[in-house]
Amino acid sequence: MERFYFANWKENKTLNESLAYIDELQKFLVGCDLSKQRVVIFPPSVFLPQLYERLSSSPGIQLGAQDVSAFLDGAHTGEISARQISSFAHFALVGHSERRREEGETPTVINRKILACYQNSLTPIVCVGGESELRSLDLPDGLSSFSLAFEPPGFIGGEVAQETARILDFYRVARKILANRPFSFVYGGSVSENNVEEIFKSPEISGVLIGHLSLDAKKMAEIILA
Ligand code: PGA
Repeated sequence: MERFYFANWKENKTLNESLAYIDELQKFLVGCDLSKQRVVIFPPSVFLPQLYERLSSSPGIQLGAQDVSAFLDGAHTGEISARQISSFAHFALVGHSERRREEGETPTVINRKILACYQNSLTPIVCVGGESELRSLDLPDGLSSFSLAFEPPGFIGGEVAQETARILDFYRVARKILANRPFSFVYGGSVSENNVEEIFKSPEISGVLIGHLSLDAKKMAEIILA
């Protein structure tokens, strides 16, 4: 079964550190079937072009953006549009709890970002912390591929992941609320090499979103190879 490993670097690493990481991770993953274990790195967007270039000679690892503008283009200082990102990446995180909390992102903004991704062939990884955030999603008709990342509050940046039974409780709620919409289900929050195997025992969970441990290429490889 195809599994996704999403590495969210957040506001970390310089350009040189980013390039060295990619080289190191590729070495650790030699022999790993990256068509089944799909690895996507979400670096700071400013480094996407250089990482894209570095990865173009040896495809396998893919790229995503940590955020995307809610606007399609125009006078929006500091924003990066989905169309601009789509030259370098296939995925974008939308609605991460840190953006909701620190940047005050509202459901309206998050829904516009999902739409912007959809209109520019970026697959959104939509992060929600619970049922009310899930219910506030207004997904465009025809959105073909989208991932729902369940990131329960209190489990981000720690050492212990949410119990699998509770993750699956949320999955069942999401299945009901999203009715017939196809989505892949991702878990995020203190994923490590010690708990990833347990998380993936449930076929409902097709990906993991990894934060602080993804910053170390060796740790990231250990999670992928666990
Ligand atoms: P964590 O972060 O792995 O450090 O808990 C996950 C996330 O914020 O997406």
